[in-house]
Amino acid sequence: MYDDRAPPPLDRPTLPRRPAHDTVVLVAPTYFGVRYRINPYMGGRVDAARARSEWDRLRRVYERYAERVVVLDPDRYGTPAPGGADHVPPAALPDLVFAANLGFPTADGGAVVRARMATDERAGEPAHFARWCRAVGYEVYDLPGDVAFEGAGDAVWHPGRRLVWGGHGVRTDRAAYDDVAGLVDAPVVTLELSDDRFYHLDVCFAPLTESTALVVPEAFTEAGRASIDALFDEVVEVPLAEATGDLACNCHCVDGEHVLLAAGNPETERRLREAGFTPVPVATGEFRKAGGSVRCLSLTLG
Ligand code: ARG
Repeated sequence: MYDDRAPPPLDRPTLPRRPAHDTVVLVAPTYFGVRYRINPYMGGRVDAARARSEWDRLRRVYERYAERVVVLDPDRYGTPAPGGADHVPPAALPDLVFAANLGFPTADGGAVVRARMATDERAGEPAHFARWCRAVGYEVYDLPGDVAFEGAGDAVWHPGRRLVWGGHGVRTDRAAYDDVAGLVDAPVVTLELSDDRFYHLDVCFAPLTESTALVVPEAFTEAGRASIDALFDEVVEVPLAEATGDLACNCHCVDGEHVLLAAGNPETERRLREAGFTPVPVATGEFRKAGGSVRCLSLTLG
């Protein structure tokens, strides 16, 4: 593990490559709602019909730009075994739609490290995901001990490279990465988060390609920013108002060119275009009421 207190002793040209991860997993929003408050954005009444239509459109946009899109139906794979230890029904897990937090794929893409949620409210979710993974053929690895690890919400693969960026400090415990690095078979560069508005790495850091990252500068320590600057040629900054308004940085560059991002972020779109990308705005206003947008709603596996 490389500590974010000093820039990583790695050069871009020597970072090893890894096979592409090109399966986008979405979880159907059947039971989505805002019924508790575990991040500062949460609040308001969700319009279920509107949430469904926003999610349907997000799915169609993904189907257009991603290699493969798979939908996890919480009713089909989520039914817990009667009397089993993992007994929370999907109807009692309103944040299950945020696929990013359920796990994190290994470098070769054949297996997944199951998340261990930091909050009791979401603790029942990874069991549903693990059942689905086994049913469709991914091996599932569990972290030893009791450290919190919120999957791809905090751990992000460097595009094309065998290197993981690991956010910690709000939800995920830094110590989780000692084990994650071994399980996924890649070094981890940690990035400390301390501001609740940036409760997951994927709301303030979005690597777009091997050489370009989108970041919210206010979210990082000086050392964290130095690590990012050391390993990307170009860093595009998201204005704070858009990062904390419609969660502009919670976006996804699916194919090296098209960047799916929350609608309502004109300045971020302008900066993306200036850097050579094509923004694809998608309305995610209902999911914003839970503190999430495009990237939280999807998980990329091998
Ligand atoms: N309400 C959810 C939570 O606070 C939102 C999760 C968003 N996911 C993400 N990857 N940022 O946990």
